[in-house]
Amino acid sequence: MKIFVLTGAGISAESGMGTFRDKDGAWARFDPMKLASPEGFEADPDLVHAFYNARRQKLLTASPNPAHAALARLEDGLGARGGELFLCTQNIDDLHERAGSRHVLHMHGELRKARCMVCARVMPWDDDLGRDETCPACHSHGTLRPHIVWFGEVPLYMDDIQHALEDSDLFVSIGTSGSVYPAAGFVNEARYLGLRTCEINLEPSENAPAFEERYYGPASTAVPEWVDGVLKVLAARG
Ligand code: OAD
Repeated sequence: MKIFVLTGAGISAESGMGTFRDKDGAWARFDPMKLASPEGFEADPDLVHAFYNARRQKLLTASPNPAHAALARLEDGLGARGGELFLCTQNIDDLHERAGSRHVLHMHGELRKARCMVCARVMPWDDDLGRDETCPACHSHGTLRPHIVWFGEVPLYMDDIQHALEDSDLFVSIGTSGSVYPAAGFVNEARYLGLRTCEINLEPSENAPAFEERYYGPASTAVPEWVDGVLKVLAARG
């Protein structure tokens, strides 16, 4: 069996990373156009750097939760039976990787990386970013930005995502509000391609009616339960 899993902020909520659109989420407190758009960065780079520097420092002290661990188990379990997990996340944290997932596609970029706006080099970056940095690759000064896809920019790996959807049997959406495109449209593409569809979330997302199967609860319990169920079915098939 080949499973395409899309994750969002909800899977990392219990690791303390916060969500965006819940009542205490980041976009309830801050203007996303000031903090997550190329125009916002141009207008006030210090403000944008400070926002992502704080999130990066928080991430360095956060730990994966049982939902991340369950998806790493699923990758192993599917692989051992000739199947495959395609894990695509909207999250910019690296909690999937730290839980043991080997193949993770970060369609909205990665917080622990910086990108040079001159040479386009992407590099690991755990320190604070600011306007004083020099690009280690091309030596331009003040040209590093967080390696994050902002509003108005094109998400990464869209061709790989389309191919993986075409190659999968089941599409599962975990911990995402289903309100940011293109990710919010994956369920419809999956249905069009004939995949079964499943949502796991704290509460019904904006896309809930589009899913055939739905499980609601905190990711740290709902995801391991769902993964155990899938692995049991696979084991029974032999
Ligand atoms: P949202 O904040 O929009 O949605 C988070 C979803 O997770 C909601 O549906 C919550 O109900 C659910 N949730 C909260 N806690 C949960 C828990 N413990 N277990 C399970 N589910 C839980 O976050 P995303 O959908 O990921 O993009 O947002 C998509 C994109 O919008 C983000 O990648 C980000 C943001 O703007 C950029 O910054 C480019």
